[in-house]
Amino acid sequence: MGLLDDKVAVVTGAGRGIGRSIAEAFAAEGAVVAVVSRSGSSCEGAAAEINARHPGKARAFAMDVADASSTASVGKEILDTYGKVDILVNNAGVTRDGLALRMSEEDWDVVLDTNLKGAFNCVKAFQRSLLKQPAARIINISSVVGLMGNAGQANYAASKAGLIGFTKALAREFSSRGVTVNAIAPGFITTDMTDVLTSDQKEAITKNIPLGKLGEPADIAAAALFLAGPGASYITGQVLTVDGGMVM
Ligand SMILES: NC(=O)c1ccc[n+]([C@@H]2O[C@H](COP(=O)([O-])OP(=O)(O)OC[C@H]3O[C@@H](n4cnc5c(N)ncnc54)[C@H](O)[C@@H]3O)[C@@H](O)[C@H]2O)c1
Repeated sequence: MGLLDDKVAVVTGAGRGIGRSIAEAFAAEGAVVAVVSRSGSSCEGAAAEINARHPGKARAFAMDVADASSTASVGKEILDTYGKVDILVNNAGVTRDGLALRMSEEDWDVVLDTNLKGAFNCVKAFQRSLLKQPAARIINISSVVGLMGNAGQANYAASKAGLIGFTKALAREFSSRGVTVNAIAPGFITTDMTDVLTSDQKEAITKNIPLGKLGEPADIAAAALFLAGPGASYITGQVLTVDGGMVM
């Protein structure tokens, strides 16, 4: 018996990094998972690897979360395939760092359109099905940067703080139907997104992490699994910070 037997989960940005780890953790607990990423090759590779360990649990769907027509059409394909969605994890995200003084409108728009509007587009694509399930879950992957701010990430911080407001508003709107909506705020996690940091930058960051190390994608997957599972049924509108103690 798995924690998520008979559940259908959609995980965006699941081609690699945190999203892929969440998709794998859900599949290991019995869920069937729509592994969503912008590029077909990346989500197909991730789905194949998950299926190698958990046969038949994963299927790849290429979707650009920033594009409402893509989320609507691929969302319909996912619903046609599985008949329902119980769990939506809005994880797809990008960075386009730079000081606000020099930030281009394009860099602002790409980050807000992917990280914040992308979550809205996916909720729109699946909300009717989520609202019909007895214990549906929406989990939005925010960031400690949305709580603290970060120089050089005005666009990213705004998108991740916006995601927290979005989480709380949806939690209130969907609560009467038993749907919980929560956010996870990861600290610094070792993925391609943080690979761009120099070792000096990583050392400086680590000095501010009480637990003394960067986190792993599996640390976020464990938090997502908790919020998706039966143990979190009375938790909604919350931000679970998973950051080695950076924000406390
Ligand atoms: N790594 C960290 O330290 C960290 C910290 C806090 C929050 N986060 C957040 O966690 C999430 C995952 O981050 P990660 O580190 O695994 O990043 P990553 O860059 O390794 O993976 C991001 C994934 O999102 C996908 N994606 C990007 N734009 C997309 C779009 N328009 N449509 C569909 N998919 C798209 C990419 O293809 C990729 O698979 C992001 O939302 C990120 O902001 C990461």
